[in-house]
Amino acid sequence: MRIIQAASREEAVETVASLVLEKILAHPTAVIGLATGRTMEPVYARFCELVRTSRPPLSQAFFFLLDEYLGLPEGHPASFKQYIRTHLLRPLSIPESQIAFPPAGDSDGPERYEALLKESHGVDFQLLGIGQNGHIGFNEPGSHKTSRTRFVQLTEETISANRAQFTDIIPQKALSMGIGTIREAKGLLLLATGKSKADAIKYLMNHHDDPACPATFLKDHPHFTLVLDPDAASRINLKI
Ligand code: GLP
Repeated sequence: MRIIQAASREEAVETVASLVLEKILAHPTAVIGLATGRTMEPVYARFCELVRTSRPPLSQAFFFLLDEYLGLPEGHPASFKQYIRTHLLRPLSIPESQIAFPPAGDSDGPERYEALLKESHGVDFQLLGIGQNGHIGFNEPGSHKTSRTRFVQLTEETISANRAQFTDIIPQKALSMGIGTIREAKGLLLLATGKSKADAIKYLMNHHDDPACPATFLKDHPHFTLVLDPDAASRINLKI
């Protein structure tokens, strides 16, 4: 595991946005796995700025979205599909033919998504955030290291952490790439910012392969980078 402890939140964001850009510059046909959440918003904003300046060839890249809520109508503002449209696709005029969205509305969605991932020869570089309870994607505590893309029940903690985004429907379930699926990406990058993630990061640093904190299942991935801002790193002791 490579740990990058940034000097500020801005620096953490810059690091992640630049790493994505580098991947695409080095491999224009790269397949990038996208995470959503508040943590990633400034990353996509910065990535869009970098793209406007350095004009990398984006037209051959392909994107996979990590997870999606169940039961939200098309275009719902709190859906992850809408999030990625708002923060990445529209600002960069990336057509939707270049992204796969988890088919959360279809009963065979998980199998279809796995088949699509296989067809695309997997993800080259997967972006990840972390839940306050250590979840990755929507792989909640108790998930298995070898889990595949599936429908999952959200924990009360996750529902309440994301409640502010909903005024009408409050989703209880989601479709998420599994941990085994995520681990098949050639490179993984987890970004954690803010004090609310400090406990999860402390737990992550001190435990291995622990279902109580699904992010620990990533630690033995050969290319796993953890990027932290000072708040997220505030409960761990890293010598830098
Ligand atoms: C969400 C998403 C995750 C995200 C995490 C943290 O529920 N399913 O992909 O990484 O929880 O979200 P945030 O960045 O808003 O704290």
